[in-house]
This record gives sequence, C-alpha cells and structure tokens, in this order.
Amino acid sequence: MKTLLPLTCCLAAFAAFAAPSPKQTDFVPGGRWEDNNGNHINAHGGGLLLHEGRVWWFGEHKVAGTAGNQAWVGVHCYSSPADDLVNWRDEGIALRVSKDPKSDIAEGCILERPKVIYNAKTRKFVMWFHLELKGQGYASARSGVAIADTIAGPYTFLRSGRVNPGIPAQNAPEPGSEKAKTYFRDLPGGQMARDMTLYVDTDGTAYHIYASEENSTLQIAELDDTYTKHTGRYWRAFEGRYMEAPALFKRGDTYYFIGSGCTGWAPNAARSAKAPAVAGPWTELGNPARGENDNKTFFSQSTYVLQHPTKPDTYIYCGDRWNPKNQIDSRHIWLPIQWDPEGKPYFTWYDRWSIK
Ligand code: GAL
Repeated sequence: MKTLLPLTCCLAAFAAFAAPSPKQTDFVPGGRWEDNNGNHINAHGGGLLLHEGRVWWFGEHKVAGTAGNQAWVGVHCYSSPADDLVNWRDEGIALRVSKDPKSDIAEGCILERPKVIYNAKTRKFVMWFHLELKGQGYASARSGVAIADTIAGPYTFLRSGRVNPGIPAQNAPEPGSEKAKTYFRDLPGGQMARDMTLYVDTDGTAYHIYASEENSTLQIAELDDTYTKHTGRYWRAFEGRYMEAPALFKRGDTYYFIGSGCTGWAPNAARSAKAPAVAGPWTELGNPARGENDNKTFFSQSTYVLQHPTKPDTYIYCGDRWNPKNQIDSRHIWLPIQWDPEGKPYFTWYDRWSIK
C-alpha cells in the first residue's frame, strides 16, 4: 500500500495533465474561453468562415500587457465543428508578421480585424486586414491582403495600400461638401481604411467594408472576382456618423449592419442598420443592445455576426471586450440575435446560453 499510493497519485496527476479540456456545452460571454490546450482563445477583432463542416475563427493574436496593441505574432486561427462553436481547436498562426523591418507587416505594426473568405474560382483563401505601418500610429489607414491554398495557412502577404486611388465613389458627394472634405483630400492617393469586415453576397460578389475618411464615414468597396483587389466601384454610407467595427449579415432579402461608435478601446452604444442591397441605401435602426449596460453594448464592441451554419435563422453577435492594459485577456462576448416585432435585430445579455 505504502508504495502504491504515490504511484496512484502520480498516475492521477499525469492523467489530469494529459486529459483534454472538458467539453464545453454553453457560451459564457465574458468568461475565459479555453481552446483544446486550455489557453484563452487568442483571436480578437476576428471573423469566422464556414468550410467543409467546420467553422474557422481568425483573429488578432495579442500579447500580454499594453504592447498587445501591436502585432508581434500575427493572425491566429481556431476551428470548431459547425454545429458546436463552443469547443475550439488551436489551428496555429495563419499569417505571421515579418522579421524584416522593411516589410509592410513588420513585427510591431498594427494589424487588426482580419477576415478570411474563400474564392471558389481561384481556390484560394483570401485574408484582408486593417494595417498600420510600424511606428506611424494610426496614420497609414491601409488595407492588407494575404492568400493561402489551405484554410489555416500559412498565408502569403501580397500587398497593402489605401483603397481605390483616383477613383470617385459611385455615390460621389457634391464637390465642396464640408462633410466629405476628407474624401476629396484622399481621392488622389486612395481612401483611408481602418476597422473593416468582408462580406460575400449570395451572388458571390465580395465587398470590403471599412471605416474611412478619418473614421467619419463608412465605405463599401466591391472586390474583383479573385477577391484580392478592389474593382473601383465603392459607395459611401453613414456620412459623418463615425461608425467602427462593422459586421454585415443577410436575413431574407434584407442586409443588416451592426457596428459601434468611435471611442477607441472603450465601449460605446452599438449601431445597427438595414438595406435592400450591400451598397445601400442604409437606414439606421438604433442601438441593437437592449437591457442593463446597453449604452456600452455590455462592455463589448462588434467584430462579426455569424449566421449559424446548421440553423440558418440563428445569428450570433460576436464582440470583443477589450482589455487595453492586457490585450491577451480581452474577452469574447457572443450573444444570440433576436428580432423585435418591428423586424429590428437586437441582443440582450445572458451569463450563459446555448443553441437549441
Ligand atoms: C477601436 C477599433 C479597434 C482598434 C482601437 C484602437 O475603435 O475598433 O479595432 O483600432 O480602436 O484604439
């Protein structure tokens, strides 16, 4: 007995160490979301993509402390079975920032809100992200593009730049318009693009939607049939409304938008809108968060709206609860979208919930 006891203890300790994380059953907004290795999911400002029965989550890999505002690693990828979405497997770093200080994506740049879409024609996975060149704060306001043959990467960086230099918007404002002065300033060199998302319409046309014109106005730019370039067709929306953190989704024939106001890492009241086409015209529907702390969107900021892959009338608001003092610990706030009698999307707080 005396010799058996330590051996049993030893085996138990080994089993605990080797055992996979217990299977999760519920979404716990604001909790510590552990991947299959027991690490909090390090994919912030992220986006999701359904591919071959799994949902793939791409997001900013943050590091501990305030340096987490810069990219020192790159874009992290996780996956989950399409009908699960609470148990995530670490798929590694999809796009790595470069050791070459001359690269646009040099370590220490700001690389935010990566989104990945699949192009069936070229059979490439295409990633777009908001890029700020190293050491220039938020002045560059560029978009970066990277591609891969396999969903988890590694992605190859193609280029970065401003959007559609020299090309006027489809709904170009009146010359001299005070509200559009940044648009006119940036026409020759290209429009600014910061917080962003991608949206692939049901006809396969992809759009890049980004906070432009010093964040005052959103722009919606069509991508070409490789999804790696802009076509030159773009529209301005929500002029002067300072919307960030855009997310788009479609229900029936209507397109919906959820975004945030513009207060940096600090949470604010979310925004929502609807339109008959991606290009607009967009009609605002107010703050989609409802209940206590809705003026701060339950201390979160949108990053994506996921249409559930196997329950298509279930939509999930995916947000970030930023922790600028320790970004690696920023939490994920995912909540189910509901519809009010007027047909407006909204979400309310749950400590814990699951998809029925
Ligand atoms: C937020 C934006 C984040 C990040 C942050 C920097 O408004 O949504 O993605 O850019 O500002 O302060």
